[in-house]
Amino acid sequence: MVVSMGRRRWPSPSGLGPGLLLLLALAVPAAHGAGAIASARPEATRAGHAILAAGGNAFDAAVAVAATLAVVEPFGSGLGGGGFFLLHRQQDGHQVMVDGRETAPAAAHPDLYVDADGEVVPGASVDGPLAAGIPGLPAALVHLSEGYGRLPLARVLEPAIQWAEEGFEVSAHYRAMATFRKDVLNDYAASAAIFLDAGEVPGEGALIRQPDLAATLRRLGAEGRGGFYDGEVAAALVDAVVDHGGIWSAADLAAYRVRERAPVVSRLGDIRVVSASPPSSGGVALATMVHMLEDLPLGDLSEADAVHYMVEAMRFAYRDRAVYLGDPDYTAVPVARLTSPAYAHRLVRQISPGQRAHIPTPDFPPQPAGTHTTHFSIMDDAGNRVAATLSINYPFGSGFVAAGTGVLLNDEMDDFVAKPGVPNVYGLVGGRANAVEPGKRPLSSMSPTFVEGPDRIGVLGTPGGSRIITMVLLGALDFARGNGPASWVARPRFHHQFLPDVVQFEPGAIAPDVQRELEARGHRLQALDSTYGNMQAVMRERRSGRFSAASDPRGEGLAEVR
Ligand code: GLY
Repeated sequence: MVVSMGRRRWPSPSGLGPGLLLLLALAVPAAHGAGAIASARPEATRAGHAILAAGGNAFDAAVAVAATLAVVEPFGSGLGGGGFFLLHRQQDGHQVMVDGRETAPAAAHPDLYVDADGEVVPGASVDGPLAAGIPGLPAALVHLSEGYGRLPLARVLEPAIQWAEEGFEVSAHYRAMATFRKDVLNDYAASAAIFLDAGEVPGEGALIRQPDLAATLRRLGAEGRGGFYDGEVAAALVDAVVDHGGIWSAADLAAYRVRERAPVVSRLGDIRVVSASPPSSGGVALATMVHMLEDLPLGDLSEADAVHYMVEAMRFAYRDRAVYLGDPDYTAVPVARLTSPAYAHRLVRQISPGQRAHIPTPDFPPQPAGTHTTHFSIMDDAGNRVAATLSINYPFGSGFVAAGTGVLLNDEMDDFVAKPGVPNVYGLVGGRANAVEPGKRPLSSMSPTFVEGPDRIGVLGTPGGSRIITMVLLGALDFARGNGPASWVARPRFHHQFLPDVVQFEPGAIAPDVQRELEARGHRLQALDSTYGNMQAVMRERRSGRFSAASDPRGEGLAEVR
């Protein structure tokens, strides 16, 4: 049963338009094999449900959805990338974040992306194999399957393999992403052969077949992690990377390990917010913002006051992100302090109701942050849950496919700080905590999240680069107001990330009179000419067991309850 299907359109500035009115917010009671899945592609949502119907649990379904997205949404995530899986196992209440984030190769160093004059080399951390970290997704899929699933990995990968062999249809969004990255895809013959048609972006409805990727997935299913990180696939990956100027070695791949980490937990009144821990900045920044806002009667404030306080919370949380956050295996991240309500309450005292806070900073122009990366949310009838945000970073990652493997490599190395104070592709700055070091994981904004209220449990997340965390904040606040997934995914969005020092907002997200009031308090506003994000969310009512689900109307996803 379809609950809501994403539409790539957005309402008029006056409010929610006809696209949203088409959403069918159906709630369905649970039955055996039942569950709720929302993902960025219909093929992936259906693959997850097929695995639930075959006797798999939410963790098996998560492997199926992730692997299928790796095939049918190649600009968002893939075997050549990584991500975070937030898990809740109902039988014992175990909650954990499976960290499948990429790692820097052993030959990496803090000056990898700067020239002899100390200047950042444009594009070096974004395009081509030098930009690629050691992938984590294949190891994470094996870890989930072996540690939490019920079905054999080879069975769970079948839908993805079928899509890779038979091909998926090019969509409007694929065309937009491929157009954006056409030049770099054309730089590499193996990439252009798969994703372009004689060097041009294929037309809508054209089939993208990936037989090499199907073979790599088959090998992963048959051999487990060794099928990717050792042997023929690993050798082909390293040879291709080194031949094209990259610095991977066989030892880098053999050494890759997922990490299990305790999630970051914060409280928004009687709601428990569970989110990603470092090397994601998501849970920590979310905790700071949630704790800053929890005592404010946002619902009773004027719209200008409410937006003002939310923007100020974002400003302080992203300031701390830039200063303190990095890979916890390499840098001491003060998680307990940054996530404590007492710290947040001290920050709140620095907010003036009538004037924005001034934190001395340099400034630079805003950078785009789009809809790349991917997210999906799953709940099964037993109560298991998965929130997963996965990425190859920029659309189509580094643009580099290792010939013979079908694996499109990430450019997640750009999430490191190439040089202190110099912004990355999302306009984010940072310091030593997130400098490039061998074996280190780059800081992320990916924020797979659970919101656990007394009556309802929600699972949500979204792509969107640096804006991910503020989108999840707005979604969690909407949950707290009593709204359901259709509202969280559709609500208009605004964002502040400390630097650049602007409030970015979607068309119609801040009314003109509110804009004027914010400007009078010293905020600089930037009206975006397009929407952003692609939130995928599911919810369950505790008492009735009823599921609901929604897929962002800005995207091409599918939310389905069965
Ligand atoms: N590559 C985007 C992120 O991890 O935040």
